[in-house]
Amino acid sequence: MMKRILVIGSKGMLGRDLVEALRFFLRDIEVFGWDVDEIDITEENKSVAKIESLQPGIVINVAAYTDVDGCELHEEKAFAINAEGMRHVALGAGGCGAKVVYLSTDYIFDGKKEKPYLEDDPPHPLSVYGRSKLKGEEYVQELAKDALVVRTQWLYGKYGNNFVASILRQAREKEVLSVVDDQIGSPTYTVDLSKVVSLLIQREARGIFHVANSNFCTWYDYAQRILTLSGVRGVRALPISSKELSRPAPRPSYSVLDTQKLKRETGMTLRPWFEALKDYLSASP
Ligand SMILES: NC(=O)c1ccc[n+]([C@@H]2O[C@H](COP(=O)([O-])OP(=O)(O)OC[C@H]3O[C@@H](n4cnc5c(N)ncnc54)[C@H](OP(=O)(O)O)[C@@H]3O)[C@@H](O)[C@H]2O)c1
Repeated sequence: MMKRILVIGSKGMLGRDLVEALRFFLRDIEVFGWDVDEIDITEENKSVAKIESLQPGIVINVAAYTDVDGCELHEEKAFAINAEGMRHVALGAGGCGAKVVYLSTDYIFDGKKEKPYLEDDPPHPLSVYGRSKLKGEEYVQELAKDALVVRTQWLYGKYGNNFVASILRQAREKEVLSVVDDQIGSPTYTVDLSKVVSLLIQREARGIFHVANSNFCTWYDYAQRILTLSGVRGVRALPISSKELSRPAPRPSYSVLDTQKLKRETGMTLRPWFEALKDYLSASP
């Protein structure tokens, strides 16, 4: 029988690009995509039985409650999906001997290091979202041998509501856009990330890998680049502090991920974030 890969969270922003990339790069593998309509990962018994019924060789979990401020206000829901949901997926995968791949986040770090984070730097999440994703990582490590954990950050892609879309939408409505200038990270294009995840799977990689587009910026720099590359005129970005924005969830002030391990072990490195952004914007209608 042809080997099967199951992607859970396949209708999300990353999930859609990932299913496409897996089908393109791993042609001898059958790719199945399920989202919450097919499997609700908060339900333990049903999730385990459903995964076992497919008998996949690899299960990739990109399903999550990704609204960072929503998680802060709904802690139980955040842990039910991001942590317990991952546990149920790992149990289902374990039941059929499948490898587990989990997508995690830079928000497991507190930002105090002020230098790019290595895979084995101690995590210290500031938010409920970060804590729930870290618990998901811990379940993977406890329950799934040979698992692959990919930590990434600041995602945007054509299938999701993201920062790029939000800046362009606001630029149609206002002349001045207030954007946070005291958080640093690397905007990462879901197409580039999906390619690397597919190739890591092809190489049977395991352990933790940091994967993000190279170079870094603040959200304010990022917004300015979006406006310039999109040819928007008469609209300007105004730098503000995180304190001024006052959102429910605290974010790390510096969460750049060091991707040297990826380069060292696979030879892969992602292009600079502004090149990927240019590509994304020129492909967007
Ligand atoms: N976005 C980022 O900047 C970012 C950064 C770092 C890491 N990540 C990680 O990357 C992964 C993908 O993120 P994304 O931005 O593509 O997320 P997304 O667009 O929010 O997609 C997540 C998908 O999971 C589904 N889902 C939610 N609850 C579920 C449940 N109980 N059972 C099954 N499916 C459920 C969602 O369905 P509904 O939409 O119907 O709820 C959605 O289709 C996540 O693990 C996230 O933590 C994201």
